[in-house]
Amino acid sequence: MTTIPILIKESLSETRKELASLYTANVETASQILSYLSESEGKLIRPILVLLASHEKQQEAIGLASAIELIHIASLLHDDVIDEADIRRGKEAINARWGEKWAVLVGDFLLSTAFNIILKEKDWRIFEIFTRTSLIMTEGEMAELEAKNSPVIDEAQYLSIVYRKTASLFASSGRVGAIIGGRPEEPFADYGKNLGFAFQITDDLLDISSKNPTKSIGQDIKNGRLTLPFIHSLKEAKGSEKKKILELISANNLSELKRIVERYGGIEYSQQLAEKYIEEAKSCLKTVSPSPYKDSLFNLADSVRIRVN
Ligand code: FPP
Ligand code: MG
Repeated sequence: MTTIPILIKESLSETRKELASLYTANVETASQILSYLSESEGKLIRPILVLLASHEKQQEAIGLASAIELIHIASLLHDDVIDEADIRRGKEAINARWGEKWAVLVGDFLLSTAFNIILKEKDWRIFEIFTRTSLIMTEGEMAELEAKNSPVIDEAQYLSIVYRKTASLFASSGRVGAIIGGRPEEPFADYGKNLGFAFQITDDLLDISSKNPTKSIGQDIKNGRLTLPFIHSLKEAKGSEKKKILELISANNLSELKRIVERYGGIEYSQQLAEKYIEEAKSCLKTVSPSPYKDSLFNLADSVRIRVN
């Protein structure tokens, strides 16, 4: 769990209020779903990033911090349909409880709401950042869906998908916060991008870890999605062992797969790569002068590491 930096305590609490006020629709079932969603708040890592990057301009950044969270939630609703997920944030997923049609439509509703808020900024540059990011995220999710038809993807393909579906929104969170705060954009966007890579790699590790109480374990393999621990093991394995791993993947035999992945050091390899991205995120801020905001961004990067161990 991310600890909330004291510097943004107030603006984050206002972001929460803003989000709560947006969780309403003039359709009874949609309202029920939105109220159900508001009961299970996530880690708010993207809004936290926007607010920290905006420095003293947090008040001006609350709308965009909320919009980014809405885009994220919309993408999760759609992702859960694609992944046929049963559980999200420790509760029944919307698609599982209300059906796929409602999950798609409420996702559309939240995405449209987000763009309404972004439009209110009357800033074409910011608007363009979000339209581009939505396109990139969708491309990432489509590339992932397509990859499910090929038995193996390599690390470069995996990272390209991770950039598009996850790291791009983290990068935009840092960039938009910096724009609002009048700070140089690139360090904060690059910080966000690297944090996003680390975040997704650890999220994928949690999919095969028993330390994950908020999601069903083994969903990725069940959905034919190869994550880094498996990609690494497949790269290291030779001949018949490689064939065996592929068979276990098709058979969805997670316990046997975990044993093989451990033997090939797939977990450590992924942890090390996540670590590399965390350190890279911090080094992206080297040109940024010291401040409590910078310290908090360092802590935020470290909090992603804690999820791994
Ligand atoms: C979670 O991945 C999914 C994403 C990070 C992005 C999903 C993107 C889309 C559905 C397309 C874009 C949609 C919009 C609304 C712009 P995961 O399945 O690895 O994570 P999980 O384990 O949390 O489900
Ligand atoms: Mg998913």
